[in-house]
Amino acid sequence: FKVPQPVNEPVKSYKPGSPEREELKKKLAELKSKQIEIPLIIGGEEIKTGNTEEIRIPHNHSHVLGVYHKAGKKEVEMAIDAALEARKQWSAMPWEHRVSVFLKIAELLSGPWRATINAATMLGQSKTVHQAEIDSAAELVDFYRFNSYYMAELMKDQPISPTGMWNRIEYRPLEGYIFAVTPFNFTSIAGNLPTAPAIVGNVSLWKPASSAVYSAYWLMKLFEEAGLPKGVINFVPGSGGQVGTPAMTNPNLAGIHFTGSTEVFQNMWKLISDNLKNMKNYPRIVGETGGKDFIFAHNSADVDALVVAALRGAFEYQGQKCSAASRMYVPKSIWKEFKEKYVNEVSKIKMGDVEDFTNFMSAVIDKGAFETITGYIKYAKESKEAEIITGGNFDDSKGYFIEPTTIVTTNPKFKTMQEEIFGPVLTIYVYDDNKLDETLQLCDETSPYGLTGAIFAQDRKAIVKMSDALRNAAGNFYINDKPTGAVVGQQPFGGGRASGTNDKAGSAMNILRWMTARTIKETF
Ligand code: ALA
Repeated sequence: FKVPQPVNEPVKSYKPGSPEREELKKKLAELKSKQIEIPLIIGGEEIKTGNTEEIRIPHNHSHVLGVYHKAGKKEVEMAIDAALEARKQWSAMPWEHRVSVFLKIAELLSGPWRATINAATMLGQSKTVHQAEIDSAAELVDFYRFNSYYMAELMKDQPISPTGMWNRIEYRPLEGYIFAVTPFNFTSIAGNLPTAPAIVGNVSLWKPASSAVYSAYWLMKLFEEAGLPKGVINFVPGSGGQVGTPAMTNPNLAGIHFTGSTEVFQNMWKLISDNLKNMKNYPRIVGETGGKDFIFAHNSADVDALVVAALRGAFEYQGQKCSAASRMYVPKSIWKEFKEKYVNEVSKIKMGDVEDFTNFMSAVIDKGAFETITGYIKYAKESKEAEIITGGNFDDSKGYFIEPTTIVTTNPKFKTMQEEIFGPVLTIYVYDDNKLDETLQLCDETSPYGLTGAIFAQDRKAIVKMSDALRNAAGNFYINDKPTGAVVGQQPFGGGRASGTNDKAGSAMNILRWMTARTIKETF
């Protein structure tokens, strides 16, 4: 069989009077009107541990959306047993039937479930309507359709067979279960990490970020409605230590699919390596971690395009995309023009409740994030090496709001040029036009990360020079575009260095990591 060649899911506009707008408004009101109790889901059974945590709306933190139950060691062990039991049938199922389940999930998400998942993302993670739509609707539908397609295409790859024999490769799921640990910032990444391995026949334990359990739970309900067999994905929210340690030290661990902080990922490697002797297989470790993504402008850059890229790259979703621009290099010769246009555009940004569809930004995810991000802003305010040219104010009385903040520094290694902030803060260093080479080298060396980056130039020779100098600085590299918004099937996503294992999400490279192969030679 061939899986139909997918096309990217169209993004809806939600313009006034559109049917999708009416439906979404209704769904937002409905979700807000009731508090739900979210259980663990293990082998299809709902389990309540009584160890609960409240879920609040980040832009209106007095509003409680519900509570979720947290898993402990006992429940993780139950989830491993349930996953291994479900694996018996799921891994043996003809692949087209597994793929059919995921194509159905994509169909439901594209249609009747779109409003629910978007509304859950908007309320639970404070995404504006457009940011929710490109994430939890369009990108997630794409993940299911494209991953199904890639799996089927990969399995066609077979060795040659001289006469007298038939050589073949049998592609199989990994032996054991996958532990998927997902972030708050993209519902699509959360919905992809436990399922990409499952499409290939694996089973998963899914620990969503504590700040995004709400949308993750609604995704579990969608999987259930689409007929995903019980136990294929087991939902075990909880703390990293309580869930992570038992999930990663079991001999049946076959792989980790992770998006989150560099520090947590490094601890996971360590825990696994300390337990390697007990493991049945070398677990496949696939992770996307931190970033300090850049925009580097040349003096031939189109300044208007640069302004839009800086503003959208740094402040969409409050700068909480792993791909968000957080440091920028601008040559002196275009600085005055850039600054004037940029400050003017940033001053027009509207921030507030996501239910007002005209807002461009909303709140950051939680109190912890608010404290960390505003700590960097306070540091810059007190420094002689920095000047704040936009924003700089914040207020958490109703929600965790931080203005789109731009710091200009005279020190290219200033703290906010180097450290990941994960919020609406862009730091700019203005460089001497004669020092392009040195500044490119600075850009390459200033952070340990290598996730995304963008260069702006119209001079082709400069584009070649900059692309070459920054060849390892970004796994997703943009020429004359913002560093965010990679589309599944178009720009496979991921980076190297301290940003992860670069097993490009939304590509055949990622799917291959979840398969193991048996080479068979039969002689006639
Ligand atoms: N797809 C997301 C982006 O590129 C991660 O912004």
